[in-house]
Amino acid sequence: MKQPSNKQFSINSFPRVRMRRNRLSDFSRRLMSENILSINDLIYPIFITYGSNIKEEISSMPGIYRISTDLLYKEIDYISSLEIPAIALFPKIENELKTPNGEEALNKNNLLCKAIKITKKVNPNLGVITDVALDPYTNHGHDGVLHNNEIDNDLTLDILCKQAIVQAEAGCDIVAPSDMMDGRVGAIRDSLDDYGLINVQIMSYAAKYASSFYGPFRDAIGSASNLSKKTKKSYQMDPANSDEALREIRLDINEGADMIIVKPGMPYLDIISKAKKEFNFPIVAYQVSGEYSMLKNSIQNGWLDEKNIIFETMLCFKRAGCDAIITYFAPYIAKNLIKKI
Ligand code: PBG
Repeated sequence: MKQPSNKQFSINSFPRVRMRRNRLSDFSRRLMSENILSINDLIYPIFITYGSNIKEEISSMPGIYRISTDLLYKEIDYISSLEIPAIALFPKIENELKTPNGEEALNKNNLLCKAIKITKKVNPNLGVITDVALDPYTNHGHDGVLHNNEIDNDLTLDILCKQAIVQAEAGCDIVAPSDMMDGRVGAIRDSLDDYGLINVQIMSYAAKYASSFYGPFRDAIGSASNLSKKTKKSYQMDPANSDEALREIRLDINEGADMIIVKPGMPYLDIISKAKKEFNFPIVAYQVSGEYSMLKNSIQNGWLDEKNIIFETMLCFKRAGCDAIITYFAPYIAKNLIKKI
C-alpha cells in the first residue's frame, strides 16, 4: 500500500486538498456559494420629465427612458409586479424653471412631488427614495448654490433641509442627500425631526466620488449642458482616496444616517468592502449611469453575454458587502429571478 508521505504534503496542500472537488458538480457549487442575489436587494432609478405622453430614450443609456408623470402610473404598476422593493426618482425639469439657487426644488407641486404622489397612489408599499441635491434645479448644474464663485456649503445646507421636508411631506420614504456638503445629514435629520417626520429614513451618499461615470446621468436630467466644463471636485471626493471615504462615512453615521451609499459602484468595491468591515452598517452601492452604459453597449454589440455579465456584477456587489444595489438593470434582474421560481 502506498504510504502517505507527510513530509512532502501538509494537510493543507495538494493532492489531499483539491479545491476543485467542491466546484465539480452543480449541486456542490450551489451548496458552497457564499453570496446570493435576491429581488430584495434591488433599487430602480426612474427618470421623470414634464409634459404628457413622453417616453424618450436617453441616448447615452440605451433602454432607459425619461417618462412624463402620466406614464408613471403604468411604470409603477410594472415595477410593483416585479416585486422590486424601492425606486429612486430623478426629475428633469424645464430649463426655464432653473435658477441660480434652484428654488423650484422647494415648490411643493414640482415635478418630483407629483411623481412621489403618483407612485404612492399606485402602490403605497413601494419604497420611494428621492435625491436631496440641487443639480436638477440650478441653471449652473451644481448641487449647491454659488457665493463668490464657490459652492457655499452652509447656504446650501439651509436649502437642502427645506428640500428634504418638501419631499418627505409629498410622501417619500427615504431622502438621499447626494450633494456631498458637510454637515447635511445632521442638519436634515434635525429638520425632519422638527417637522415630526421622524420615520423618514436618510440614505446618505456618504462616499460619493467626483467621477466621470456620471456623464450619461447628467444627460438624463439635463444638467450636462448647464454644468458644461465645470467640475464638482470641490465637494465630491477624489478617486485617489479611501481613508477619506471612511471618514466621510463615519461622519454621516454619527450625524444620523440610516444607511450609506458608495458611488460609483464597481470601480469602488474596495471602499464598500472596507466600509462594511469597519462599520457593520447598511451599505448601498450605486451602479451608476456610466457603468450601465459601458455594459449595455457591450451587450448590444454582442461582446458580453447579457444575463451572465449583469448577474456577475450584482454578485460582486454582494461579495464586497452591499445590502442593496441601485441599478438600472433592476427590472431585467427581477424578471430573471422571478422566472427561476
Ligand atoms: C446628483 C446625482 C448624480 C447622480 C445621482 N445623483 C450625478 C452627479 O453627482 O453629478 C449620478 C447617478 C448616475 O450616474 O447614475 N446629485
